[in-house]
Amino acid sequence: MFAIEELDRYVENGLSAINFRLEPKELYEPIEYMISIGGKRLRPELCLLTYNLFSDKIEKTVLFPALALEIFHGFTLIHDDIMDQAELRRGQQTVYRKWDNNIAILSGDVMSIKAYELLANCPGEVLPQVLALFSRTAAQVCEGQQYDMNFETIPYITMKDYISMISLKTAVLIACSAKMGALIAGADEKVSQALYDFGYSLGIAFQIQDDLFDTFGQGNVFGKKIGGDILNNKKTWLLVESYKAADNSQRMQLDEIMEMPMERGEEKIGRMKQMYCTLGIKEGAEKAIMGYYNQAMEIVGKMDFTPAQMEQLKRFADKLIKRIK
Ligand code: IPE
Ligand code: IPE
Ligand code: MG
Ligand code: MG
Ligand code: MG
Repeated sequence: MFAIEELDRYVENGLSAINFRLEPKELYEPIEYMISIGGKRLRPELCLLTYNLFSDKIEKTVLFPALALEIFHGFTLIHDDIMDQAELRRGQQTVYRKWDNNIAILSGDVMSIKAYELLANCPGEVLPQVLALFSRTAAQVCEGQQYDMNFETIPYITMKDYISMISLKTAVLIACSAKMGALIAGADEKVSQALYDFGYSLGIAFQIQDDLFDTFGQGNVFGKKIGGDILNNKKTWLLVESYKAADNSQRMQLDEIMEMPMERGEEKIGRMKQMYCTLGIKEGAEKAIMGYYNQAMEIVGKMDFTPAQMEQLKRFADKLIKRIK
């Protein structure tokens, strides 16, 4: 089995070997930019990692589908930044700010097409399954993104609504990455499904963590604007939990903060942060993240993985929850 760092090297080399120096440059430069400014490469890493549980032969039949996951993810981020009016991504200007909306839309579109082109390199015998998995996942991400947007203008949602929204926008792509590696390696349905469920639980933990960092992270490390979710009235784990934990007067204060306009942005962020602290939301989020992490480890713990395979899965899960960006 390869060390995670070695798997990352495959991903980085693979990404740099894709030629995006094409014409018209207005279409391709933003793609090259998006890939070159970094990112954790979590999804392709996970795909190679689950493949590598069963095989050491990393060839383009698995590497290209793994890269497809990163390219597709990049597309969702470019469009997400337009939708969320975000200034910063990976510590740099977002694509639509650096260029414009039309360019961001079209560059994103071509990335999603490129993802399919890369995906088609998987072994012929699993191509129908891989394509079906990926297409379903891609549609679910869009569904989740629409719920996320719908929720901006709804005053309250339940924790159940929140979890189903983040399952769609975030968890299913991580789950798909884990399952895809296993499918390509020829693992059976039961094992592939367990890895899907592992990725899914970790994906939920991952989005709660993303919500947490959006308010409490270090701006220069996280690479996105701290407080962006508060400005957009996003229904994050922190907000949904706050309404659950608040008494009547605190609930009124939360309503008041939510109604504050964009022009009072910094004040709005400061007051919301204060409410989260009063209500112990940060600690609550950390507990919830650990809960989903444990769930992920339990799922794979029930399977017949060897100690070495389990160790590798644990390394990935640990790396994920110990992240600071
Ligand atoms: C950001 O994903 C979007 C979410 C699903 C939270 P990542 O946190 O994986 O972003 P990069 O690729 O590392 O920049
Ligand atoms: C986005 O969730 C998930 C997808 C891009 C599909 P967020 O909007 O929270 O992601 P960030 O925080 O901008 O990376
Ligand atoms: Mg968003
Ligand atoms: Mg966003
Ligand atoms: Mg976020």
